[in-house]
Amino acid sequence: MDTCLATRTYAPSALMHIRPYRVLSIEDGREEEVKFFMPPADGAGSLTAFESVMLLKLVRAINPDFVFEFGTFDGRTTRLVLEDLPDNGDSESRIYTLDLPDTDGIVFQGDDKLLAEKAVLSSRKYNQSPKKAMVKQILQDSMTFDPSPYAGKFDFIFVDANHEYEYVKRDTENSLKMLGGDSSCIVWHDYGNPQFPELTRYLEDLAGSLELYHIEGTMLVFHMRGAKIGDERTAA
Ligand SMILES: C[S@@+](CC[C@H](N)C(=O)[O-])C[C@H]1O[C@@H](n2cnc3c(N)ncnc32)[C@H](O)[C@@H]1O
Repeated sequence: MDTCLATRTYAPSALMHIRPYRVLSIEDGREEEVKFFMPPADGAGSLTAFESVMLLKLVRAINPDFVFEFGTFDGRTTRLVLEDLPDNGDSESRIYTLDLPDTDGIVFQGDDKLLAEKAVLSSRKYNQSPKKAMVKQILQDSMTFDPSPYAGKFDFIFVDANHEYEYVKRDTENSLKMLGGDSSCIVWHDYGNPQFPELTRYLEDLAGSLELYHIEGTMLVFHMRGAKIGDERTAA
Protein backbone atom coordinates (compact mmCIF):
# COMPACT_ATOMS: atom_id res chain seq x y z
CA MET A 1 0.00 0.00 0.00
CA ASP A 2 1.41 3.44 -0.90
CA THR A 3 1.61 6.31 1.54
CA CYS A 4 -0.75 9.03 0.43
CA LEU A 5 -1.50 12.23 2.32
CA ALA A 6 -4.57 13.07 0.28
CA THR A 7 -6.51 9.88 0.87
CA ARG A 8 -5.07 9.04 4.28
CA THR A 9 -3.90 5.57 3.37
CA TYR A 10 -0.60 4.74 4.94
CA ALA A 11 1.83 1.86 4.79
CA PRO A 12 1.54 -0.52 7.75
CA SER A 13 3.96 0.96 10.31
CA ALA A 14 4.18 1.81 14.00
CA LEU A 15 4.27 5.49 12.99
CA MET A 16 1.25 7.24 14.51
CA HIS A 17 -0.89 9.62 12.47
CA ILE A 18 -2.40 12.29 14.69
CA ARG A 19 -4.78 15.18 14.14
CA PRO A 20 -3.19 18.65 14.50
CA TYR A 21 -5.28 19.54 17.60
CA ARG A 22 -3.22 17.06 19.62
CA VAL A 23 -0.18 19.28 19.06
CA LEU A 24 -2.05 22.58 19.28
CA SER A 25 -3.54 21.58 22.65
CA ILE A 26 -0.13 21.21 24.34
CA GLU A 27 -0.03 23.77 27.16
CA ASP A 28 3.05 25.97 26.61
CA GLY A 29 2.31 29.00 28.81
CA ARG A 30 3.20 31.39 25.97
CA GLU A 31 1.26 34.46 24.85
CA GLU A 32 -0.84 34.05 21.73
CA GLU A 33 0.88 36.75 19.66
CA VAL A 34 3.32 35.47 17.02
CA LYS A 35 5.51 37.21 14.44
CA PHE A 36 4.77 35.20 11.32
CA PHE A 37 6.34 35.01 7.87
CA MET A 38 4.24 33.89 4.93
CA PRO A 39 5.66 31.19 2.63
CA PRO A 40 6.66 32.26 -0.90
CA ALA A 41 3.97 32.04 -3.59
CA ASP A 42 5.70 29.13 -5.37
CA GLY A 43 6.19 27.32 -2.05
CA ALA A 44 9.47 25.86 -3.27
CA GLY A 45 11.73 24.59 -0.50
CA SER A 46 9.64 26.09 2.31
CA LEU A 47 7.17 24.82 4.87
CA THR A 48 3.52 25.57 4.21
CA ALA A 49 1.95 28.21 6.47
CA PHE A 50 0.21 25.46 8.44
CA GLU A 51 3.40 23.43 8.81
CA SER A 52 5.14 26.57 10.09
CA VAL A 53 2.44 26.99 12.76
CA MET A 54 2.78 23.34 13.79
CA LEU A 55 6.56 23.53 13.92
CA LEU A 56 6.42 26.72 16.01
CA LYS A 57 3.97 25.08 18.39
CA LEU A 58 6.36 22.15 18.87
CA VAL A 59 9.22 24.59 19.52
CA ARG A 60 7.06 26.38 22.10
CA ALA A 61 6.16 23.07 23.73
CA ILE A 62 9.85 22.37 24.31
CA ASN A 63 11.02 25.97 24.96
CA PRO A 64 14.51 24.96 23.83
CA ASP A 65 17.80 26.43 24.96
CA PHE A 66 19.46 25.30 21.74
CA VAL A 67 18.02 24.54 18.30
CA PHE A 68 19.70 22.75 15.38
CA GLU A 69 18.38 22.90 11.81
CA PHE A 70 19.65 20.61 9.04
CA GLY A 71 18.95 22.61 5.85
CA THR A 72 18.81 26.41 6.17
CA PHE A 73 17.73 27.14 2.59
CA ASP A 74 16.70 30.84 2.55
CA GLY A 75 16.54 31.03 6.36
CA ARG A 76 12.77 31.60 6.53
CA THR A 77 12.05 28.89 9.12
CA THR A 78 15.23 29.83 10.99
CA ARG A 79 13.87 33.37 11.26
CA LEU A 80 10.41 32.23 12.32
CA VAL A 81 11.88 30.20 15.19
CA LEU A 82 14.40 32.93 16.06
CA GLU A 83 11.78 35.67 16.40
CA ASP A 84 9.64 33.50 18.69
CA LEU A 85 12.44 32.27 20.97
CA PRO A 86 12.09 33.89 24.41
CA ASP A 87 15.19 35.62 25.77
CA ASN A 88 16.80 33.36 28.38
CA GLY A 89 19.54 35.89 29.21
CA ASP A 90 22.12 33.80 27.34
CA SER A 91 24.27 35.74 24.88
CA GLU A 92 25.74 32.75 22.97
CA SER A 93 24.31 31.43 19.69
CA ARG A 94 21.17 29.42 20.30
CA ILE A 95 20.14 28.41 16.79
CA TYR A 96 22.63 26.42 14.73
CA THR A 97 21.67 25.97 11.10
CA LEU A 98 23.59 23.91 8.57
CA ASP A 99 23.64 24.12 4.78
CA LEU A 100 26.03 23.43 1.92
CA PRO A 101 28.92 25.73 0.96
CA ASP A 102 28.54 24.45 -2.64
CA THR A 103 26.90 21.55 -4.45
CA ASP A 104 30.04 19.72 -5.70
CA GLY A 105 29.93 15.93 -5.25
CA ILE A 106 26.53 15.89 -3.51
CA VAL A 107 23.90 13.29 -4.49
CA PHE A 108 20.44 14.85 -4.90
CA GLN A 109 16.90 13.57 -5.40
CA GLY A 110 13.84 15.40 -6.77
CA ASP A 111 14.11 19.21 -6.70
CA ASP A 112 16.88 19.17 -4.09
CA LYS A 113 19.68 20.19 -6.47
CA LEU A 114 17.74 23.23 -7.65
CA LEU A 115 17.04 24.27 -4.06
CA ALA A 116 20.65 23.76 -3.04
CA GLU A 117 21.85 25.96 -5.93
CA LYS A 118 19.46 28.69 -4.75
CA ALA A 119 20.48 28.19 -1.13
CA VAL A 120 24.18 28.69 -1.86
CA LEU A 121 23.38 32.18 -3.23
CA SER A 122 20.86 33.12 -0.52
CA SER A 123 21.45 36.01 1.88
CA ARG A 124 19.23 34.13 4.45
CA LYS A 125 16.17 35.81 5.92
CA TYR A 126 17.23 35.47 9.55
CA ASN A 127 19.91 38.11 8.77
CA GLN A 128 17.06 40.66 8.62
CA SER A 129 16.27 40.09 12.29
CA PRO A 130 17.63 42.26 15.11
CA LYS A 131 18.24 38.95 16.92
CA LYS A 132 20.44 37.57 14.12
CA ALA A 133 23.48 37.26 16.44
CA MET A 134 21.70 34.31 18.06
CA VAL A 135 22.11 32.29 14.84
CA LYS A 136 25.24 30.33 14.00
CA GLN A 137 25.44 29.32 10.33
CA ILE A 138 27.43 26.16 9.60
CA LEU A 139 28.41 25.68 5.95
CA GLN A 140 29.17 21.99 5.50
CA ASP A 141 27.90 18.86 3.78
CA SER A 142 25.84 17.13 6.48
CA MET A 143 27.37 13.79 5.43
CA THR A 144 30.75 14.94 6.79
CA PHE A 145 29.33 16.76 9.83
CA ASP A 146 30.77 15.58 13.17
CA PRO A 147 28.13 15.71 15.91
CA SER A 148 30.51 14.75 18.76
CA PRO A 149 31.27 18.33 19.97
CA TYR A 150 27.50 18.80 20.33
CA ALA A 151 26.54 15.56 22.11
CA GLY A 152 23.34 16.17 24.10
CA LYS A 153 23.41 19.95 23.41
CA PHE A 154 20.25 20.54 21.41
CA ASP A 155 16.73 20.21 22.76
CA PHE A 156 15.07 20.95 19.42
CA ILE A 157 16.29 19.62 16.06
CA PHE A 158 14.74 20.09 12.64
CA VAL A 159 15.83 17.66 9.91
CA ASP A 160 15.16 19.20 6.50
CA ALA A 161 18.34 19.09 4.38
CA ASN A 162 19.13 16.51 1.72
CA HIS A 163 16.16 14.12 1.34
CA GLU A 164 18.07 11.22 -0.24
CA TYR A 165 17.98 8.09 1.97
CA GLU A 166 21.66 7.99 3.10
CA TYR A 167 21.61 11.68 4.07
CA VAL A 168 18.36 11.46 6.02
CA LYS A 169 19.68 8.40 7.82
CA ARG A 170 22.97 10.14 8.71
CA ASP A 171 21.22 13.39 9.75
CA THR A 172 18.81 11.38 11.91
CA GLU A 173 21.57 9.37 13.59
CA ASN A 174 23.49 12.57 14.26
CA SER A 175 20.33 14.23 15.61
CA LEU A 176 19.84 11.42 18.10
CA LYS A 177 23.43 11.91 19.30
CA MET A 178 22.94 15.68 19.67
CA LEU A 179 19.53 15.52 21.37
CA GLY A 180 19.49 16.36 25.08
CA GLY A 181 17.63 18.23 27.80
CA ASP A 182 14.70 17.36 30.06
CA SER A 183 12.26 17.83 27.23
CA SER A 184 13.30 17.59 23.59
CA CYS A 185 12.05 17.05 20.07
CA ILE A 186 13.25 16.08 16.60
CA VAL A 187 11.09 17.08 13.64
CA TRP A 188 11.49 15.78 10.07
CA HIS A 189 10.00 17.43 6.99
CA ASP A 190 8.83 15.83 3.73
CA TYR A 191 7.24 12.64 5.08
CA GLY A 192 4.81 11.53 2.36
CA ASN A 193 6.36 13.81 -0.27
CA PRO A 194 6.09 11.81 -3.53
CA GLN A 195 9.53 13.11 -4.55
CA PHE A 196 11.17 11.26 -1.64
CA PRO A 197 9.59 7.80 -1.18
CA GLU A 198 12.75 6.46 0.52
CA LEU A 199 12.54 9.16 3.19
CA THR A 200 8.95 8.16 3.90
CA ARG A 201 9.89 4.50 4.13
CA TYR A 202 12.89 5.32 6.34
CA LEU A 203 10.66 7.11 8.87
CA GLU A 204 8.10 4.32 8.76
CA ASP A 205 10.86 1.81 9.55
CA LEU A 206 12.35 4.05 12.23
CA ALA A 207 8.96 4.11 13.96
CA GLY A 208 9.61 0.47 14.89
CA SER A 209 12.32 1.61 17.34
CA LEU A 210 11.46 5.28 18.04
CA GLU A 211 8.07 6.80 18.92
CA LEU A 212 7.13 8.90 15.90
CA TYR A 213 4.05 10.99 15.17
CA HIS A 214 2.95 12.29 11.81
CA ILE A 215 0.74 15.39 11.95
CA GLU A 216 -2.08 14.86 9.47
CA GLY A 217 -2.42 17.48 6.73
CA THR A 218 1.34 18.14 6.90
CA MET A 219 4.59 16.46 5.88
CA LEU A 220 5.90 16.79 9.45
CA VAL A 221 6.89 13.83 11.63
CA PHE A 222 8.21 14.28 15.16
CA HIS A 223 9.72 12.43 18.09
CA MET A 224 9.21 14.03 21.51
CA ARG A 225 10.70 13.32 24.93
CA GLY A 226 9.73 14.75 28.31
CA ALA A 227 6.62 16.51 26.96
CA LYS A 228 3.25 15.08 26.19
CA ILE A 229 0.98 15.66 23.23
CA GLY A 230 -2.70 16.37 23.87
CA ASP A 231 -5.09 13.50 24.49
CA GLU A 232 -7.28 12.18 21.72
CA ARG A 233 -10.82 13.57 21.89
CA THR A 234 -13.39 10.88 22.34
CA ALA A 235 -16.91 11.06 21.00
CA ALA A 236 -19.38 12.35 23.61
C1 LIG B 1 14.09 22.02 1.72
S1 LIG B 1 15.48 23.04 1.92
C2 LIG B 1 15.42 23.52 3.62
C3 LIG B 1 14.24 24.40 3.98
C4 LIG B 1 14.36 25.06 5.32
N1 LIG B 1 14.54 24.10 6.38
C5 LIG B 1 13.10 25.85 5.59
O1 LIG B 1 12.23 25.38 6.34
O2 LIG B 1 12.97 26.96 5.03
C6 LIG B 1 16.78 21.89 1.91
C7 LIG B 1 18.15 22.51 2.11
O3 LIG B 1 19.09 21.47 2.37
C8 LIG B 1 20.32 21.83 1.80
N2 LIG B 1 21.12 20.62 1.57
C9 LIG B 1 20.99 19.70 0.58
N3 LIG B 1 21.92 18.74 0.69
C10 LIG B 1 22.63 19.04 1.80
C11 LIG B 1 23.75 18.43 2.43
N4 LIG B 1 24.30 17.30 1.96
N5 LIG B 1 24.27 19.02 3.54
C12 LIG B 1 23.72 20.16 4.02
N6 LIG B 1 22.67 20.78 3.47
C13 LIG B 1 22.13 20.24 2.36
C14 LIG B 1 19.97 22.56 0.53
O4 LIG B 1 21.01 23.41 0.13
C15 LIG B 1 18.68 23.30 0.92
O5 LIG B 1 18.96 24.61 1.31
